[in-house]
Amino acid sequence: MSFVFHRRLRLLKVLLSLKFMVFIIVFWIFYINRHILFTILVPDLVEIGNSTKSIMVRKSANKYILLWSAYRYPPFPVLMYKDIFAKKNCTYQNCIVTTDRNYFRGDLTKFDAIALHGRKLIKYTTRPNKSSHGSHKSLHQKFIYVNQDSAWNYPICSFKFDGVFNWTMTYKLNSDIPIPYIQIRDMAGNIVGPKIDMQWKSNMTEVDSDVIRRLKKKKKAVAWFYPECHTSTKRENIYLANYLKNELKRYGYTVDTFGGCGTHRCKSDSACNKKLEEYYFFLAYEKSFAVDFVTSKVLRALWHYTVPIVYGGADYSRFLPPNSYINARYTPATRLAPLIVKLMKNPKLYRRYFGWTKHYTYHNPMNTDNVCALCAAMNDPKLTGRTEYPHLRSWWNPPFPNKCQRGYLNDGNFVIDDDLFEI
Ligand SMILES: *[C@@H]1O[C@H](CO)[C@@H](O)[C@H](O)[C@H]1NC(C)=O
Ligand SMILES: *[C@@H]1O[C@H](CO)[C@@H](O)[C@H](O)[C@H]1NC(C)=O
Ligand SMILES: *[C@@H]1O[C@H](CO)[C@@H](O)[C@H](O)[C@H]1NC(C)=O
Ligand SMILES: *[C@@H]1O[C@H](CO)[C@@H](O)[C@H](O)[C@H]1NC(C)=O
Ligand SMILES: *[C@@H]1O[C@H](CO)[C@@H](O)[C@H](O)[C@H]1NC(C)=O
Repeated sequence: MSFVFHRRLRLLKVLLSLKFMVFIIVFWIFYINRHILFTILVPDLVEIGNSTKSIMVRKSANKYILLWSAYRYPPFPVLMYKDIFAKKNCTYQNCIVTTDRNYFRGDLTKFDAIALHGRKLIKYTTRPNKSSHGSHKSLHQKFIYVNQDSAWNYPICSFKFDGVFNWTMTYKLNSDIPIPYIQIRDMAGNIVGPKIDMQWKSNMTEVDSDVIRRLKKKKKAVAWFYPECHTSTKRENIYLANYLKNELKRYGYTVDTFGGCGTHRCKSDSACNKKLEEYYFFLAYEKSFAVDFVTSKVLRALWHYTVPIVYGGADYSRFLPPNSYINARYTPATRLAPLIVKLMKNPKLYRRYFGWTKHYTYHNPMNTDNVCALCAAMNDPKLTGRTEYPHLRSWWNPPFPNKCQRGYLNDGNFVIDDDLFEI
């Protein structure tokens, strides 16, 4: 009897110690190395954080975007705000933007997208070292070329960037994620432009009495805002504005300059805008020439009921309704000055430039819809397939001699860093 009891007790002891060992193993797996178990059992789980403090998250629920560098250049700063997609009430809010390359404990392949700013790329003439970060090994990861600045100022000089990127996010309207400076809506609030094949309403002649009342307040000819104290006549926009100024003088009118070094001062931006409504025309000359590069200067003009006189590398019919603006590219100052005078003296003719106000409204999408566009793209099944830009330079660089071709930054002559990913 006692012999049997002792045998059982021994067995129990063994069992107990076995259980204890199992417990130890389970404890080890769960508490010390739980991420190993989890990633084997649930590949969707990833660990975020560092060795001191980390959490497991279901990766597929979110899209992770790493901003590689150049954090202070738009549109990066706005994207870096905490919970930005929720704050902007975006349709898709499941995107997480970080600048922390160690977010997934250093595993860059876990990011759904890596965004590189074009302002940095101009200087780099060597191909990114793919092996060191292994990102293109990740099947779904998108390399995004991001740039809000003009291709004229920030061309891509090296052929080595061809076949690196998967998406573009720029002001160019044929970008995968277009981020134009201006947005056009119809009266129902639907976004209708800008667009490459913009279809404008054809009969926009009527103008509301409210607009007519505003137009009656006008008495001055042309306003010109430039915030920088640059007076170099080498700059085309400044040269052209001064040329127009001289031409207008013959008719007794002037181009009034506002801004930092302008001759006209206003206490605040809103005071400036109020003054602006007294002007018939507004010079919206772009500082640099590039396809689709139309900045918010045009918005300032339209929002304050002045007719924009535009000058730039864009096809403005993508951005502005017909007969709502004057394109100085095709109207030299010698013809522009008499046209301005003619329109100032003929209210009925001038009024026609505002026919669009009954059909469209203009907005600045920079900090709203352009932000949401990134997260929407990350969720768009049409976009998430394999995409590449084998000829990124010919897509981005201006179709006329740019800084690269002038020998400013030739391939191979300006190697700053061998590894783009060390920026
Ligand atoms: C780990 O992350 C936590 C929380 O983000 C932070 O407070 C801590 O300083 C980090 N520790 C190390 C060693 O980086
Ligand atoms: C987002 O929506 C909420 C509730 O509908 C509203 O209170 C808030 O003002 C909206 N925010 C923006 C930026 O539109
Ligand atoms: C790429 O980077 C890795 C790791 O930093 C390095 O070992 C390798 O030599 C680099 N390859 C080239 C082509 O520079
Ligand atoms: C344009 O609209 C006005 C009034 O809405 C109308 O009288 C005129 O016939 C229209 N013209 C054309 C060409 O459709
Ligand atoms: C991204 O582009 C690279 C280089 O062209 C290509 O190898 C890769 O398959 C592309 N990835 C995706 C997800 O489109």
